[in-house]
Parts: sequence; structure tokens; C-alpha cells
Amino acid sequence: MSTPEARITISANGSLKVEGDIPLYDDQGNRLETREGKPYFLCRCGASEKKPFCDGRHKIADWDPSLLG
Ligand code: FES
Repeated sequence: MSTPEARITISANGSLKVEGDIPLYDDQGNRLETREGKPYFLCRCGASEKKPFCDGRHKIADWDPSLLG
């Protein structure tokens, strides 16, 4: 089974979808656990209670995704 292409996709109204073998580290250099072989989603709205991961709160949060690109 081949490794999927590493990529980050900005969704129009929500998270950043991270695919491929891209490790995630905090600001102390600690590797954060992600589901091996599965995509993970990073919050870009600031409302998630599971930061840095998206928990779906962008759907009810008061934010304008057009301001963040
Ligand atoms: S982008 Fe989904 S909770 Fe922030």
C-alpha cells in the first residue's frame, strides 16, 4: 500500500485537513498523537476545545473564514 500524497487542504468554512505522513509537534517540540494513516483536522477558527484539532465548533462559532484565507 503506497503512502498518500502529503498535503494540507484549507476547507472553505472550517478546518485544515492534513493528509499523508506529516507529523505534528507542539511548541515544545513534543510530537502530538495523530491517527496513523488517517487524515487529521486542525482548527483555524479558534473555537475548538480540542486545539489544535478541529472539534466541529466552527459550524456554530462566530468567525469569518474569508479573513484567514
Ligand atoms: S476549524 Fe473546526 S473547530 Fe475550529
